[in-house]
Amino acid sequence: MPAQNIYILGIESSCDDTAAAVLHNGRILSNVVATQEIHQKYGGVVPELASRAHQQNIVPVIHEALKQAGIDKKQLSAIAFTRGPGLMGSLLVGTSFAKSMALALDIPLLDINHMQAHILAHFIEEEGFQKPQFPFLALTISGGHTQIVKVSDYFEMEVIGQTIDDAVGEAFDKSAKILGLPYPGGPLVDKYAQQGDPKAFPFPKPKVGHLDFSFSGLKTSILYFVQKQVKENPDFVQENLEDMCASIQATIINILMDKLKKAVKHTGIKQIAIAGGVSANSGIRKTLKEAEHKYQWKTFVPKFEYTTDNAAMIAIAGHYKFLKGDFADMGVTAKARIPM
Ligand code: KG4
Ligand code: ZN
Repeated sequence: MPAQNIYILGIESSCDDTAAAVLHNGRILSNVVATQEIHQKYGGVVPELASRAHQQNIVPVIHEALKQAGIDKKQLSAIAFTRGPGLMGSLLVGTSFAKSMALALDIPLLDINHMQAHILAHFIEEEGFQKPQFPFLALTISGGHTQIVKVSDYFEMEVIGQTIDDAVGEAFDKSAKILGLPYPGGPLVDKYAQQGDPKAFPFPKPKVGHLDFSFSGLKTSILYFVQKQVKENPDFVQENLEDMCASIQATIINILMDKLKKAVKHTGIKQIAIAGGVSANSGIRKTLKEAEHKYQWKTFVPKFEYTTDNAAMIAIAGHYKFLKGDFADMGVTAKARIPM
């Protein structure tokens, strides 16, 4: 770590979490997230409501992050914000706030790619957590993305496989919805799966190109299966919720592991890091740890609070951009889609 004191404020507002974090020389001083409960009753994120909630939350969240860090805003070295990818209306709130704050404090601005940040969360200085070494493979699994990324350096990342339809988080959430679980259903599927039999209901695995993924077929087969069962027994879901969740989760994990094995074979890289909201999944974490012995991989699972959307990951990405002197222009604009 450099001898200088680098304080980075990270701001994240790409989807439905308003988050701010303060990082000192790569170490987290505060990590505040305001999750927007409002979307639950609509069964998914409503972009208009998300952007309005960001506007309400951003000032108190940043204020709280600075307070918890115990520093004054004048001590900040730079401000890092999520430029994209994400929902335009949501991104605009964080982007314009970051720009005006950097301008007012007369400090540099750092524009961050949300997907790169999910991966760079592995570089936050944390006791008991090792950092991956370059090159490594990252499996980024979130509500919006499913990618296998070859990471050659902090900002040198190449997508070598990705979903051709739904993201893995969507597969969890949509399956959960079919089972009548509230949004976002991923964590609930995880919870019920822990009590269920993963072999109870076998679902087919999709056939897609080399390192790519497909999850829309799984959702459809779950839907047809449930409809058929409910016709015979209206209480089917209630009576089999745990087994259904365990079976769905096992199918998803199998799909992910198949492609990871192929990616390792293809690249010769045996260091695997997972990132993104779905890497909070306990089944995925367990399977990956088992792969260390089974396939002699070295695996990296981030600390729980750095998996779902957070600003600590934006701040650490900002830290490395700051070290490179790679600052954003004040004219920078939010972008809904940005390549890795
Ligand atoms: O990275 P993230 O917070 O937001 C996006 O950028 O998309 O990921 C959110 C996704 C949601 O689909 C949510 O259901 C899923 O991550 N998720 C989980 C778990 N925790 C969050 N899926 C399965 N098991 C979990 N424990
Ligand atoms: Zn995310």
